[in-house]
Amino acid sequence: MSLLLGVNIDHVATLRQARYADMLDSMNAEPSPLIAAEDAHAGGADSITIHVRGDRRHMQERDAFEIREKIDLPLNFEMGNTEEMVAMALKLRPDFVCLVPETREEVTTEGGLDVNGLYGSLEGTVSQLQQAGIKVSMFIDPDPCQVEASRRIGAEMIELHTGCFANADREGRSGETDRLKSAAELGYQSGLQVNAGHGINVQNLAELLTVPHLSELNIGHTLIARSVRVGLTVAVQEMRSAMKGYAL
Ligand code: PXP
Repeated sequence: MSLLLGVNIDHVATLRQARYADMLDSMNAEPSPLIAAEDAHAGGADSITIHVRGDRRHMQERDAFEIREKIDLPLNFEMGNTEEMVAMALKLRPDFVCLVPETREEVTTEGGLDVNGLYGSLEGTVSQLQQAGIKVSMFIDPDPCQVEASRRIGAEMIELHTGCFANADREGRSGETDRLKSAAELGYQSGLQVNAGHGINVQNLAELLTVPHLSELNIGHTLIARSVRVGLTVAVQEMRSAMKGYAL
């Protein structure tokens, strides 16, 4: 199977909220995350990713339900491990949930989830979601201990945090690539689906594609940035074509 592309459209909502946070019912409230999801679909996205954060800084609950209802693509719902978000996910019924750490201060998801350290508080969430037919992914640093904890807790998938890889300078990059390779190998040998995300762009993609066993990349920022110039459909098409030829 070819490498899949999940498109994260949170930043479309970020832009709308910058001006219309208090006027979401206004006919002027734009840009629309729903239209962005349609455009991503048209460009060949394999899934749509959204993150309703506790502070609602970008996606709103209503965006999530509208996209779920109207977009005929698998929905990946990123969420923090809170009662509020578990309740929302059980109502929304996305295809996948990706559990992420969430603090109010961070600009974006800054580190992986400490599945090992937070095992006790995550266990119940994982099984509740799975009982509702939702597959669970853990957004983790490429660390063997976190891969092993994700397997132990029964997650179907891991998403390897590629932020350190993406931000590493030339000297640091190969070490970060090696960490991703080892974690992907361990995840695959443990029976987990291995995804990756954060900071991926066309500049670092070729090196990332040396990591084995990747099933899906989740990409947001660079696609939304590129869409300012060429539109989201074309931005997604370009990324898809750059991902071609990946051998699992
Ligand atoms: N995966 C997860 C779990 C994320 O939190 C994010 C950022 O929202 C992404 C992937 C996408 O990262 P980026 O926007 O840097 O492509």
